[in-house]
Formats: sequence, structure tokens, C-alpha cells
Amino acid sequence: MNGLRQHPPENGIAPSSGHGQARLRAPGGGMLSLALSGCSGMPSVLDPAGPQAAHIESLWWPMFWVSAAVLTLVTLAMLYAVLRHRKKRDAVSDPEAIPAPAAERKHALFVAIPTGLTIIALFGLQIASLTTDRTLASLSTDNAVVIDVTGHQWWWEVQYAETTPSLRVTTANEIHVPVGRPVVLRLQSHDVIHSFWAPNLAGKKDLIPGHETTFSFKADRAGVFRGQCAEYCGYQHANMGFLVIAEPPDQFRAWLDKQRAVPPPPDDPLRQRRQEVFLASTCGMCHTIQGTPAGGKVAPDLTHIASRQTIAAATLPNTPGNRAGWIADSQGIKPGNRMPPNPLAPLDLQALLAYLGSLK
Ligand code: CUA
Repeated sequence: MNGLRQHPPENGIAPSSGHGQARLRAPGGGMLSLALSGCSGMPSVLDPAGPQAAHIESLWWPMFWVSAAVLTLVTLAMLYAVLRHRKKRDAVSDPEAIPAPAAERKHALFVAIPTGLTIIALFGLQIASLTTDRTLASLSTDNAVVIDVTGHQWWWEVQYAETTPSLRVTTANEIHVPVGRPVVLRLQSHDVIHSFWAPNLAGKKDLIPGHETTFSFKADRAGVFRGQCAEYCGYQHANMGFLVIAEPPDQFRAWLDKQRAVPPPPDDPLRQRRQEVFLASTCGMCHTIQGTPAGGKVAPDLTHIASRQTIAAATLPNTPGNRAGWIADSQGIKPGNRMPPNPLAPLDLQALLAYLGSLK
């Protein structure tokens, strides 16, 4: 499995250091970086927003240039061999003619030198990889924000660890983190192996059923960074995205406080009716809304659904129209997901949408 993956070094929890260190970026790297990272805002290893991603980028460039040089040399050697063979074939009538000893020695050198260079290059890259691995593992996790992330087919459950249960915040597919503070993720899976990958922030880490894995990263600048499940996990693997929202510490604190708030009970008949549509449907069997009897645990917590930027694991922007489409026919949007169709009467659907829209 791993053979095909651009697997970062397995980093444990830990180290600090080293951001802002000189990058091993080769000349021309800027242009190439732009070309390879595509449009701005796209997830990219080449646009690091934290020390872990920067270390990986520093490893990426030497690997890229060595591979590019090898490819160029091999292509040139191949062309040379083809052209030379053709010339020889035209000139010499006997292709079985035994080459002279001097020519033999030349051929041997021709093989030995590239072999030696290959060994040196592979050792060099191996050492660079090990060094990066150690550096990644040395990120300090003092005063870290600890977040439990559970992979589900095909969405991410996110819970901010707190010893006091009432302070725990549960959300989905969106991870807010404070800039400048380390974050420790404790990863688990509810079903199959998934892989957490936010390339602008860190390398990949697998979520394995029955075995907790941890890893840490830090964001150096504010921004919204798209992440993606990076291990094939079934039909909707490609639509198992998430967002990491890095924000200044005070904004993060404010967000956390808001998420802890339990929505007040409806205080007028209209709001009451809207909530009743939700509670009378089957929604609460799978979803939780704090402060209501809805306490299902198999689907995303909806307590603050309207505060999120996307729905369906970063598949759609979180607009009322998309929410309506998702409620009515989520199978048409993301076939195979666990949400059944909900054929509601138009007025009920409007009421339900208004209720969900109020859960900020
Ligand atoms: Cu989860 Cu791929």
C-alpha cells in the first residue's frame, strides 16, 4: 500500500525547532513551485504554512532535482545509444563482431560510473529523509491543543479533548487551530483505514481501526487549508475532505467558546415548529443537537452546523440550497453515504432549513 504513496516520515509527537531555517530550495524553485502547486488556495506541499510542512518541502526539492537529473541523464543516454546503434548498424555489416578490449573498458566505465553515482544519490536521499524524519519528530508539544479525530466512511469526526465533559466540543470535517500553538491529533477510525493529510501543514498519517495514532503540527500563519483522506477507503474516498482553519489565538478561543454554547430552546411558536420538524423526523437517530433529545452518534454533530463552511466532508459549500439538496437526496450528491433520502413536504423542508440555518 505504502509503496504507491508519497509517504512522509512517520512522525511521533514532538520537536520544535527549526522553522525559519534556510530552505534547501534550488534556483528556479519559486517558478516551479508556482507551476506545481497550481492555483492559489489549493492544497500543496510546496506552500507550507507550518514548520512540519516546511521540513517536508525542504526534503521534496532535493528529491525533485535529483530525480529530474536522473531522468534527463537516462533519457540522453538512451537517445545516444539508439542513435549510435543505428549509425553502427549502417556502417558495419557484422553486428556480432567482437569489440576491441579498449572499447570493452570504455563500456565497463560507462556502466560503472552511473552505478556509482546512483548509489551515492540514493544514500544521500536516504540520509536527507532520515534527518527530516528526526526533525519532524522533534516538534515541541508543550501547551498543545489536543484534538481527537475519528475517520468514518466518509467524513471526519472532530472532538476537542477536555477533562471536563461539558467543555468538550464536537464538530465535523472542520478543524480550527490557533496559529503558533502546537496541535496534537489523536487519530482513530470507526471502520476502515483512512489517512489524514493537510499538505500545507504536515505529512500524512493513517487512521487505523482499533489502534490510535498521534501526530503533531503547527500553523505559522492564518488561513483555510484543505485536507483530504489519502488512503483509499471505499466509494466516496475522493469526497472525504476537510478544512483546517488556522486563526489567531483570540479568534480560536472565541470560536471554541461559541461551539461550547448550547443553542437556547426555541422561544416562539415559529421556531418551535421548525425544531419540531427536525425532532419529528428520523434525523435525531443519527445526528446530535445539544440541548435537544437528538443524540445520534453515527453522523456529524449538528449543534453548530450553520457555523461550518462546507457540508458532506468538504464536498459542497454550506449554503441553504446545498443543505436542502443534501437533505432531500444526499445519495444523488454522494452515492453510498449513510444518509437516507428525506422526502419532506415543501413547508416542512423550509422549516427544517430555517432551523438548521439558526444553529450557528
Ligand atoms: Cu477515508 Cu479515503
